[in-house]
Amino acid sequence: MESSIVAPTAANVQHAADLLRAGKLIGMPTETVYGLAANALDASAVADIFHAKGRPATNPLVVHLANSDRLGDVCDLALVEPLRETINRLAGFWPGPLTLVLPKSANIPSIVTAGRQTVAVRVPAHPVALDLLQCCDLPLAAPSANRSNYVSPTCAEHVQQGLGDRVAMILDGGTCERGLESTIVSLVESPPRLLRYGALSAEAVAEALQIQLDDLLRPEALPAQPREQGDQAPGLSPEHYAPLTPLLFLSEYDWSNPPPRIGLIAFQIQAEDSRRFAVIEQVSQSNDVAEIGQRLFAALWRLDQIDLDLILIDSCEETGLGRAIMDRLRRATFRARANRPPH
Ligand code: TXA
Ligand code: MG
Repeated sequence: MESSIVAPTAANVQHAADLLRAGKLIGMPTETVYGLAANALDASAVADIFHAKGRPATNPLVVHLANSDRLGDVCDLALVEPLRETINRLAGFWPGPLTLVLPKSANIPSIVTAGRQTVAVRVPAHPVALDLLQCCDLPLAAPSANRSNYVSPTCAEHVQQGLGDRVAMILDGGTCERGLESTIVSLVESPPRLLRYGALSAEAVAEALQIQLDDLLRPEALPAQPREQGDQAPGLSPEHYAPLTPLLFLSEYDWSNPPPRIGLIAFQIQAEDSRRFAVIEQVSQSNDVAEIGQRLFAALWRLDQIDLDLILIDSCEETGLGRAIMDRLRRATFRARANRPPH
């Protein structure tokens, strides 16, 4: 198949912007993971995103903006006004891996938000994404550019492999610097609540908001204003992010009956006998969570493609970025732990 990956030259970014205006889908690099972008104001283009990914219509999308002055393009400014002080406390993280859930504007088609009255927005910190947003002058709806429930893409080749026949063009922005999706915080409840761990630590968010970490992480809260029931990040099914090869935690693995070809994803130099493994993917030497976060998904993609019977993976401490890493790994190991076949 002909590759749709192109270098992010000014001419190619301009062409991508034209394609977006014409209702097409673009593979867009961000600092977290690659996005599958469409004009957020075009319901039919957004419908193509759901179709391309095989994503349930109940799972809303993140909308990307060129800068925070454009909030009015996607949010209801009258409802946002009382939240201004809170937004200002978090605005320092933009551009960056923080997504805010805010009251939506009537301009945004309901398919984007899966019928919710809220919209998830962020300003990505990738020069190519920002060029594209400026060039097309549109808010861009972009979920991670993977088939629904598979591992998120952290380079252009992943997008090509998963969705190459569904996108008009993939802008090559290199390897994603963060490698984990953005942190999602709902501002439509008080105090704000974390809906998804991600590339910005929960500790940093709580500190900026001057609230207790436990309050930010509370599983349930009273709504500050009327909202739909159960306003979680609805995409967080227990078996998100999973490779097709069974994946289990090394620490939980019972070696009594190992299959022939086992791969290991290691976060530190191992005491484990390396002869047990057909391949070892060393994503960090020293449990460095920034490094693990950046390289984790690429390691899962790679090992999932070389015909292993099983992938084992290290664990890390659950503070800072380690929370997002372990959150993703619990979901990625869910299927094998529950002894279920891939769908
Ligand atoms: O880092 C990221 O956020 C990447 C890049 C491309 O920006 N995007 C991303 O999108 O991870 P996606 O669709 O894979 O995950 C978005 C999550 C989903 O779990 C979705 O349910 C949640 O955001 N979400 C979107 N809108 C929401 C809303 N109005 N309320 C609550 N959760 C929402
Ligand atoms: Mg995703």
